Amino acid sequence: MGSIFSLVNIFWLSIIILNFQVDGSVIGLNYGLLGDNLPPPVQVISLVKSRNVSRIRLFSPDHNVLSSLQNSGVEVIVGTFDNDIQSLANDTNFAKNWVQTNIIPFSQTVTFRCVSVGNEVISNDLVSFVFPAIKNLNAALQYFNLSQIPVSTAIGIYLLASPSPPSNADFSSDVKQTMQEITGFLAGNGFPLLVTAYPYFSYVYDPSGIPISFMLLNSTDVVVRDGNLVYTNMFDAMVDAMYWALEKVEAGSVEVVICESGWPSKGNGDFTTIELAQTYNQNLVKHVLNSGTPKKPEKNVETYVFAIFNEDLKPPGVEQNFGLFYPNMNEVYHIDFN
Ligand SMILES: *[C@@H]1O[C@H](CO)[C@@H](O)[C@H](O)[C@H]1NC(C)=O
Ligand SMILES: *[C@@H]1O[C@H](CO)[C@@H](O)[C@H](O)[C@H]1NC(C)=O
Ligand SMILES: *[C@@H]1O[C@H](CO)[C@@H](O)[C@H](O)[C@H]1NC(C)=O
Ligand SMILES: *[C@@H]1O[C@H](CO)[C@@H](O)[C@H](O)[C@H]1NC(C)=O
Repeated sequence: MGSIFSLVNIFWLSIIILNFQVDGSVIGLNYGLLGDNLPPPVQVISLVKSRNVSRIRLFSPDHNVLSSLQNSGVEVIVGTFDNDIQSLANDTNFAKNWVQTNIIPFSQTVTFRCVSVGNEVISNDLVSFVFPAIKNLNAALQYFNLSQIPVSTAIGIYLLASPSPPSNADFSSDVKQTMQEITGFLAGNGFPLLVTAYPYFSYVYDPSGIPISFMLLNSTDVVVRDGNLVYTNMFDAMVDAMYWALEKVEAGSVEVVICESGWPSKGNGDFTTIELAQTYNQNLVKHVLNSGTPKKPEKNVETYVFAIFNEDLKPPGVEQNFGLFYPNMNEVYHIDFN
């Protein structure tokens, strides 16, 4: 009974998956706006498209950028201001107004990949407001018949306790309850979890003992063994650690989207050269375009490189030097996105 249907479904499913991998590139770029010398959004979106990138992430619902995205074919993850999270959580009308102001004017012409409630706020005093804000925004989107737009939040990979080997990973005890609630909701709705993951920061925190090629995705040696799974790079280990942690809160079906990863080209001596930044980012792009992780080999990880520009209003040092481009749109170094 049903075996023919199953076969037919598997057939169509595989076609859909193949189409997804051919058409919808998994690569995106973070479009940070903390610079006083950045070019106009219309030029930036042209630049992004000219490099065959079709996804960006915005930290706030900037209307100039959203306007420049209209009919561009470039999808966007849009964040809420952290300052709005309490009101989004407390007040359903505020959530409706937020959607009316920031989504509705663009909903016919811009594809929203998802709305992100805050950026890495699960570990601070806004933590208790995140889940109610997600629920209110989702209800507001449903009210306006925009329920196809997912709602999520962006968390740091550092919320995982004991992430090595990856199968050992679990959410740290202080956030586990919250993450269980949030990811249960994401699982129930088929929404992704956004995660920031920087092998660079792990490396500079403790460079001893781990070969840098494990961080740069150019190791040919297996560095981590985890049961039957073997790891030649830290990026995969981080993504799979998150998948294991999600399984432990019964949310193993939630897709992990890496909403930020990158390597600064300057600001911390020998750890931050153009050569290292280029090697990491180029290898990352090639890797996620071509393969999944050891735990989910068929699932290419949707990944947003941080960032398009060097941003001069960020704190001095590495923070100002994550860009692939200078504000005049010249390349800091070349990355091929095909
Ligand atoms: C973009 O993709 C098209 C089609 O695959 C290709 O012909 C073109 O060379 C690519 N452009 C860049 C800048 O890589
Ligand atoms: C939201 O509600 C909390 C708890 O009732 C309250 O402490 C906080 O001031 C409220 N914030 C806003 C912006 O409404
Ligand atoms: C949503 O769709 C329903 C059914 O088509 C319609 O009755 C309702 O007016 C729509 N709501 C909005 C806010 O457009
Ligand atoms: C990885 O890339 C770095 C930077 O380009 C280079 O110095 C190193 O030799 C490479 N490692 C391997 C194993 O190829």
